[in-house]
Amino acid sequence: MSTTSRRGLFLTFEGLDGSGKTTQMRLLARRLREAGGEVVELAEPGTTEIGKKIRSILLDPSHERMSPVAEMLLYFAARAQTVDEILRPALERGATVLSDRWTDSTRAYQGYGRGLELEWIDELDRIACRGIEPGLTVLVEIGVGEGLRRARTRNADEAAAETRMDEQDRAFYERVAQGYRTLAGLYRRIAAVDGSGSVEEVGERVWRAVEEFRRRHV
Ligand code: TMP
Repeated sequence: MSTTSRRGLFLTFEGLDGSGKTTQMRLLARRLREAGGEVVELAEPGTTEIGKKIRSILLDPSHERMSPVAEMLLYFAARAQTVDEILRPALERGATVLSDRWTDSTRAYQGYGRGLELEWIDELDRIACRGIEPGLTVLVEIGVGEGLRRARTRNADEAAAETRMDEQDRAFYERVAQGYRTLAGLYRRIAAVDGSGSVEEVGERVWRAVEEFRRRHV
């Protein structure tokens, strides 16, 4: 079952760390709100109170020995909580729900990045999300070097403790980036958008992808 068979619309944003997807999602949320209607924003992991606690376990730098399977399950645990607490009720109310990362992140990072079975991820998605899939996924594409540079600057600026994923080696991010490209070829719902240029320029590309989606589906 996809979101188009429910009342609301579910749109997700994906991309490498430092791709600018969070900024773009906020921009789109503002534009959609101005156009009217309820817009709900999610950020995974960490949308719910329980999800925030799971996020701090996942991104704690002292947990560098976390098993990849444990990591995958924790991302899904956070997501399952978001589905029950926020996503499902919002879609049933007819809201437009935007999520900063969803299961494609697990496919790209834990699947392609860490080498876990994509079939496990699909199976866990069925369990955790119970048939709710994004109608449209905006993949904000950026070079691996540029993404790492931006993510590192951000972490230094924020003196954030949240650095576990950002400290992975470059080869890992290359696999993740390649994984996202493969996913964009596999799933028609994924619209790849060039993430280079100003926030406004990228924002226009995102808006065009959303308009195109609406023309076809709504
Ligand atoms: P964020 O900085 O976009 O909030 O994401 C936090 C980190 O979590 C980022 O490095 C990507 C990673 N991540 C995964 O590895 N798997 C997932 O399923 C999700 C949602 C995020």
